[in-house]
Amino acid sequence: MAAFPDNFLWGGATSDFQFEGGFGEGGRGLSSHDFETDGAKDQPRRISLRLADGTRGFVNNRESLPDGAEAQLYDDIYYPSHKAVDFYHHYKEDIALMGELGFNVFRFSVCWSRVFPTGDETQPNEEGLAFYDAVIDELEAHGMEPLITICHDELPQHLAETYDGWNSRHVIDCYLRFARVLLERYRNRCRYWLTFNEINAVGGYMQTGTHKQTGQDLYQAKHHMMVASARCVKMAHEISPDFQMGAMYALSAMYPATCDPRDVQLAYWTRRESLYFIDVMARGAYPSYARDLLARRDVTLRIEPGDEEILREGTLDFVSFSYYRSNIIREGCSLRYAGVIGGDANPYLETTPWGWPVDPLGLRITLNEIYDRYQKPLFVVENGMGAIDEKLPDGTVDDSYRIEYLSDHLGAIRDAITIDGVPVLGYTMWGAIDLVSLSTGEMKKRYGFIYVDMDDKGNGTLERSKKKSFDWMRQVIATNGEDLRA
Ligand code: BG6
Repeated sequence: MAAFPDNFLWGGATSDFQFEGGFGEGGRGLSSHDFETDGAKDQPRRISLRLADGTRGFVNNRESLPDGAEAQLYDDIYYPSHKAVDFYHHYKEDIALMGELGFNVFRFSVCWSRVFPTGDETQPNEEGLAFYDAVIDELEAHGMEPLITICHDELPQHLAETYDGWNSRHVIDCYLRFARVLLERYRNRCRYWLTFNEINAVGGYMQTGTHKQTGQDLYQAKHHMMVASARCVKMAHEISPDFQMGAMYALSAMYPATCDPRDVQLAYWTRRESLYFIDVMARGAYPSYARDLLARRDVTLRIEPGDEEILREGTLDFVSFSYYRSNIIREGCSLRYAGVIGGDANPYLETTPWGWPVDPLGLRITLNEIYDRYQKPLFVVENGMGAIDEKLPDGTVDDSYRIEYLSDHLGAIRDAITIDGVPVLGYTMWGAIDLVSLSTGEMKKRYGFIYVDMDDKGNGTLERSKKKSFDWMRQVIATNGEDLRA
């Protein structure tokens, strides 16, 4: 039996604010991520602010903004999203390299404020759309189809500042106007769509646009996002019955620290902090445990008439997720982002330089868990190894560790397909071309097959060059995954 199905989709994944750049070009408006500073492994990224008294201030992304503060740019601060790795000006070269790898799909997100600069316009910015037209032209010329993330962890700054972001139902309508433009324009050019990125894990002003980071505001914002997603799925199916609509979630495998039933319960309950969102969006209703989950956070959801109906009607066609690591859950352990990051050290696993446990079997377990629960096709839309890649004097990069990581993870997907019978549509490796890290804002946390000459402060030629893993991945794809040898 073939390892991967003939029509398996092989590709890479990016987000606009980590990859695209083109700040202020082509009529692009300000995006929430534009205000995020760089950081490091032990130094959180911050949002630069104008405080109520007019002075400068900062908060970490997951903190509430002080009363009266608004995001503000300062000339002497480096903001990684503004240039990112400049796909905006390098897209032809980048897509040609991806074509050389043999990709047949490329996942990217559309910068909302490039298409609707404030989010409130009634007509889109044609110049912004022309950029994405050109990207798709180029993809098609190199044998790739797009996989479009409509909204990847950001929104036009105007919607955050004026309406408190996703806390407001007004943003649902703005999102649907944006989504409709994309769905109609790319109706015959894109089959697979993601309504949102990692809705289970997003939080903070840059990602949801809400000024206060209380459980109430966060879960209310996410209710609105889920209503927006369901309405988008329904609208998409009316526009084209061929569209396959998904959303993506951040999933790490989760293990209890011991067989103490309290640890097992904690791991299970922590898992539900993510499953909660997939349950609503893939099954179409809030799960029974939602009441307890929300009550423990002191949240009372405002669910309007019609919301429950639309959630039922707008369920996803497929479920996709990112997978990087697994976590050990124990009472008192430190967990972030719906438990996706954190937990105790796992003595059985090695870690990446950023302390992320490397666990390919956890990916197979997660694929089985999610398919057992939802019985919908799955798509692994992010996976990969963030590492420090050293450029050798001869200009090459020996990233054998990445080859090993990917070989093991692809092996896990192959086993899930061939042994466990899980339908997997495709695999898009995170950052096939090096890009800015979301969590740290660094460049030195690299994921790509293709090295980009740029440092943590944005200095460098931006020249692209192939790493050792490039040829390895080309061979994997050329054999449709038959040859995964590291
Ligand atoms: C996912 C996000 O959480 O993980 C990406 O969808 C992100 O935007 C990726 O880049 C890897 O995380 P990091 O922090 O290593 O960039």
